[in-house]
Amino acid sequence: MNDNLHQLCCFGCGVRIPGSKAGSIFRCADCGDLFEVEYPGWGLVGGTDRPNPGALKWLWRERRASSEQLDHSGVWRFRELLPILDNFGNAVTLREGNTPLYHLPRAARALGVDQLFAKHQGMNPTGSFKDTGMTAALSVAKERGYEWVACASTGNTSAAMAAYAARAGMRSLVLIPQGKIAWGKLAQSMDYGAVTCQLQTDFDGCVKVLSTIVQEAPIYLLNSVNPYRLEGQKTPALEIAEAFDWAVPEHILVPGGNLANNAALGKGFREMKALGLISRLPKISVIQAEGANPLVRSFASHGGKAIEPVQANTRATAIRIGNPASWRKAVRVIEETGGWCLDVSEGEIAVAKAELGREGIGCEPASAVTLAGLKKLVAGGMVAPSDTVVLLLTGHTLKDADYTIDFHRGTLLEPEEAAPLAPQIEALRRNAIEVEATPAAVLKALAEIQARWV
Ligand code: F0G
Repeated sequence: MNDNLHQLCCFGCGVRIPGSKAGSIFRCADCGDLFEVEYPGWGLVGGTDRPNPGALKWLWRERRASSEQLDHSGVWRFRELLPILDNFGNAVTLREGNTPLYHLPRAARALGVDQLFAKHQGMNPTGSFKDTGMTAALSVAKERGYEWVACASTGNTSAAMAAYAARAGMRSLVLIPQGKIAWGKLAQSMDYGAVTCQLQTDFDGCVKVLSTIVQEAPIYLLNSVNPYRLEGQKTPALEIAEAFDWAVPEHILVPGGNLANNAALGKGFREMKALGLISRLPKISVIQAEGANPLVRSFASHGGKAIEPVQANTRATAIRIGNPASWRKAVRVIEETGGWCLDVSEGEIAVAKAELGREGIGCEPASAVTLAGLKKLVAGGMVAPSDTVVLLLTGHTLKDADYTIDFHRGTLLEPEEAAPLAPQIEALRRNAIEVEATPAAVLKALAEIQARWV
């Protein structure tokens, strides 16, 4: 690794170590907190290692027209801001990043917000935002000579890890909670050849088991405690800034699970500001599911200074996490950007997902918490009508098709969950109907349905 350009700084006590000296669980030997990647050369204004913002903007745009494989990656196109490899030839890429930023005119109108966008990270190669972090950290694992990589996962990290490991010719071990991940994700892990272990515990239990395993066997840990993951996951911040011509939106909303993604985006914006690429930070807000809301509780009970693990439960299985590793990093991002942290109900998540679907933008339930959260922020006056807002959609709709089908069949929610939102739910449901195989029968069914719409 390129220890000359980067080092690891402990988030808790500030101790600094070379990247190659990180232990197998990526926690500080002194205080047990997580590390962050730092680039000391950037601090020296006028120093030779400090990137020049104007030159970078030009270079990154030029690379869009390049025929180099590495330039086709939306992560490695920005490689000057993640110099974590000795040799960029070691980068394992599936052409991740470069995800679309969709305008959401209907939701914007309904909410009274001028400019509302969705940055769809589900349009990555394995269908989630995890690919951007995986290309970074798995490339480090490859450069360091590991044969095995592993993660505990609610399904998307494991899908991404298995795919990138397969591309690199490496082996991967996946620990997932039995029966609590969406089928699409389990299928991916098998497809890409991972050794997939379903454990009789939840995500937090899988994390615990894995931290012992990586201390006993030469296996490289690819959970988001690995700080190199966040270096890849900060690049959507760069894409967003670039898409707005380096004038950043007012507000970005991110789902919160293990809380690394908002930390990564916050790091991306913070570094861009420090380097003079942008002039201010967007507010970054974290939205959790009511049944998996340890950060919301932390702010309510301890001002964000301490966290108490919860027994997590939500149908948005991607964020079914009760003891988030990166909570301190998330608190810093929310506080330094002036963002908010709130939670939304199972019914609100289901409605928001269906509304996004109606705009032609499918996503995972966990991604839809952002739209549900935005409604609350607008209602509470925390988002102004003139604000430009970006929702981070983290996963592809086909990851969890069961959820969507159950919603439209009317079997997803319990009656008491659906009751407060009954009119919206009924207007959004489009269950498939069985019809006799004749034109007359189909036309009759169509007429009946249209009559109900009026
Ligand atoms: N959205 C999706 C679709 C996810 O898969 C995850 C996390 C999150 C949001 C939350 O991101 O953890 O950085 O706060 N999924 C992990 C996994 C934990 O194992 O795939 P976070």
